[in-house]
Amino acid sequence: MKFLLISFLILALASATALAYDPSPLQDICVATNDLESGVFVNGKFCKDPKQATADDFLFMGLRKPGNTSNPLGSKVTQAFIDQFPGLNTLGISMVRVDFAPGGLNPPHNHPRGTEVQVVVEGTLLVGFVTSNELNNTLFTKVLYKGDVFVFPIGLIHFQLNIGNTYALSFSGFSSQNPGLTTIANAVFGAKPPMSADVLTKAFQVDKKVVDYLQARFWYDNN
Ligand code: GLV
Ligand code: MN
Repeated sequence: MKFLLISFLILALASATALAYDPSPLQDICVATNDLESGVFVNGKFCKDPKQATADDFLFMGLRKPGNTSNPLGSKVTQAFIDQFPGLNTLGISMVRVDFAPGGLNPPHNHPRGTEVQVVVEGTLLVGFVTSNELNNTLFTKVLYKGDVFVFPIGLIHFQLNIGNTYALSFSGFSSQNPGLTTIANAVFGAKPPMSADVLTKAFQVDKKVVDYLQARFWYDNN
């Protein structure tokens, strides 16, 4: 009886883990569609009738154009996730292009549902990720040059900084069609409605003045 119970528990845990990820494709192709009439619900998006799919469904040209880096961070991420690229539907994969002005930063952030693998195409990037508390918040960091590839494990906080004097460009692939993105400073100081200053002063061990300043900086609309 005890053995049965333990086996059941292990099975239940294993299937819960499996369900936490994008499922394997159930068919050759499943181009996302908003046409509810002809759609079948799979993995959060409807599939277009496979017979109506064309080569264009599998092409995304949105990463051709450099992103505009004229912003306080000096970087711009252009996403090719499921919402931009319907052909990815159910395939468990997606991409971004990241443009960096000299000194530009892609600030500390994480992807709750995907591992990221990044290749540098131009320039020099200082990159790193931090392990969870369990592994002592250890920083794994490297300087990447053109052609170098770095992997950021799922869920862990990471960043990329252009340390060269020239423009830098990288592309990343993700192990999910919708890896998600939480930019740490925006989530904490730009939460809507704002997190109580009592929470933030204690959590960060700073004065309310510092919290007010940071909340004012990060409480903008498009974070
Ligand atoms: C890079 O880390 C990105 O997610 O844009
Ligand atoms: Mn990332």
